[in-house]
Amino acid sequence: MSSPVSYLPAHQQKRQLPEQKAVPGVKHLIAVASGKGGVGKSTTTTNLALALASQGARVGVLDADLYGPSQPRMLGLKGMPESPDGKFLEPMIGHGIQTMSIGFLVDDESPIIWRGPMITQALTRLVYETRWDNLDYLIVDMPPGTGDIHLTMAQRMPVSGAVIVTTPQDIALLDARKGLRMFEKVNIPVLGIIENMSTHVCSECGHEEPIFGEGGARKMAQEAGTELLGALPLDIRIRTGSDSGQPVMTSEPDGALAVTYGLIAERIRQEIEALSCSRQGSENTGPDVPRIVME
Ligand SMILES: Nc1ncnc2c1ncn2[C@@H]1O[C@H](COP(=O)(O)OP(=O)(O)OP(=O)(O)O)[C@@H](O)[C@H]1O
Ligand SMILES: [Mg+2]
Repeated sequence: MSSPVSYLPAHQQKRQLPEQKAVPGVKHLIAVASGKGGVGKSTTTTNLALALASQGARVGVLDADLYGPSQPRMLGLKGMPESPDGKFLEPMIGHGIQTMSIGFLVDDESPIIWRGPMITQALTRLVYETRWDNLDYLIVDMPPGTGDIHLTMAQRMPVSGAVIVTTPQDIALLDARKGLRMFEKVNIPVLGIIENMSTHVCSECGHEEPIFGEGGARKMAQEAGTELLGALPLDIRIRTGSDSGQPVMTSEPDGALAVTYGLIAERIRQEIEALSCSRQGSENTGPDVPRIVME
């Protein structure tokens, strides 16, 4: 006789989601995301990582954009990571930042054509099979949108907080709001919003103009009850720096742009510290795996 089938009540079903597992060698995972593509997530990831490192933290970058990895180019890295034991990969080091990207493992020219489960597996391996060395922060450069990679991060990895990057255009703000809500839904704290390409600074005369609009990111932060962490102008030095593997944080470490990245990095550190304290205070309710609700 077959045994009766039992169904779990809804409030218990979340236990069947994959458990979150700490990432060895990493204290805090911080996701850098947006809704829209091309707003400057990767550039911001690289410069923030360098800003945190310049403040004395041990920092790594994980390139989670498996379809369009940018970090090897932005951090000026080439070649393949080593794997002395044939299982774990040593991160590549660019400007002192421990870095892992699918871009080191596949050829630049071949498109990556993977279905959802393959993406989940590849991301999980990049995160857990890299030998991160005692990192305070692993900054994760997310792809655009809210797809499989986001769900995998949210369900399986203990993300301490997310930073949302947006430009001031209405369309980018709209998508950024979606990105922000996704993190809220999966219980990942949003640390704040960074407005990128906030104003255009003329490289000839220094005149500053808000070509993509003004005040949108601040308003969005207020509405969402989060902070505007800072604003970066549309500046040719940021573009040439990321394209040439010499991010502006390294080429002009004392310049005004580096100061802005530094202030944002400081606020992120403070937020993470505050969150860790409040979490320690309220610990012991057992693992709370976020429930993903598809609407
Ligand atoms: N503040 C800025 N000033 C000038 N150029 C910038 C700035 N921020 C980013 N860029 C440039 O804009 C382009 C897109 O930036 P980036 O690749 O960082 O965006 P992204 O959001 O990661 O894109 P994707 O969604 O494709 O991953 C790059 O060429 C980059 O150098
Ligand atoms: Mg990118």
